[in-house]
Amino acid sequence: MFCEKPDAVSPEEALKMKKAAEETGKVLMVMRNNRFAAPSVYAKKMIDAGKVGEIYAGRCGWIRRRGIPGKGGWFTTKELSGGGPLIDLGVHMIDLAMWLMGNPVPVAVSGCTYTKFADSETSDSIHSAFGDKVEDGIFDVEDLAMGFIRFDNGACLQIEFSWASNIEQETNFVELRGTKAGLCWRNGYLDIFGEDKKGELTDDSPILKRVNGHKKNIEHFLDVVMKGTQPLFVPEQGVNMIKILSAVYESAETGKEVILADR
Ligand SMILES: NC(=O)c1ccc[n+]([C@@H]2O[C@H](COP(=O)([O-])OP(=O)(O)OC[C@H]3O[C@@H](n4cnc5c(N)ncnc54)[C@H](O)[C@@H]3O)[C@@H](O)[C@H]2O)c1
Repeated sequence: MFCEKPDAVSPEEALKMKKAAEETGKVLMVMRNNRFAAPSVYAKKMIDAGKVGEIYAGRCGWIRRRGIPGKGGWFTTKELSGGGPLIDLGVHMIDLAMWLMGNPVPVAVSGCTYTKFADSETSDSIHSAFGDKVEDGIFDVEDLAMGFIRFDNGACLQIEFSWASNIEQETNFVELRGTKAGLCWRNGYLDIFGEDKKGELTDDSPILKRVNGHKKNIEHFLDVVMKGTQPLFVPEQGVNMIKILSAVYESAETGKEVILADR
């Protein structure tokens, strides 16, 4: 079974999907197209070769100045979508960050969410390529989420996701701090910040051929099913993702950090 993101609208649903895959022995894969983008593959190779060192902290986000998908439709109805930009865009960038970090286990999460553009007549879905607007529909999700994730290996990740925010321009990014080098994946381009043997600071921006990450992900799924290739994505990662997102929502409501596991 191949699904589009987000994996599920609740941790319970994600766990049910994982269990169904285990019980039937079928492959369950959820779209993670950004892992297959050229700069992601390049960064992963560098990390696996030990060139980045220990990745101990990071930041990621996808912040839109204007771009609420299908205002009033399923995107903005919590029961159908599971949430706003955190679940819609967060899956992309949090997954990319965690995959590059070696998929550490999330242990604690805190966050804040805001809904400030639901009633705005000007900040509308004309700025979004996704979803259909529904007149007088439901808007009970956030339009901005900020948060902080702690992992079992001591690493942390700052997150921010918006559909509407008074910022300069739309950006998506994963910025990782390694002991040997820092990586900044931004809008599909990669910058590498390091130092040479003499201690001179080095900046590198590899020029990479663009690839279609969605197509590559689907081809990978077919290879897993038909050739038994080792899957790049396993359902456990989807469960952890939805647990994180759900914990941000819980933390936003309670005003407290949510503990997911012992460190
Ligand atoms: N990986 C990516 O880069 C990426 C990009 C965009 C959207 N998505 C995901 O793709 C999915 C669809 O997003 P979209 O922007 O195309 O949404 P959309 O609202 O534009 O389209 C959804 C379509 O599904 C149909 N539909 C709804 N319920 C259905 C049902 N029960 N049976 C059959 N059809 C049904 C609707 O009629 C509509 O045509 C979402 O999960 C979204 O998160 C992923």
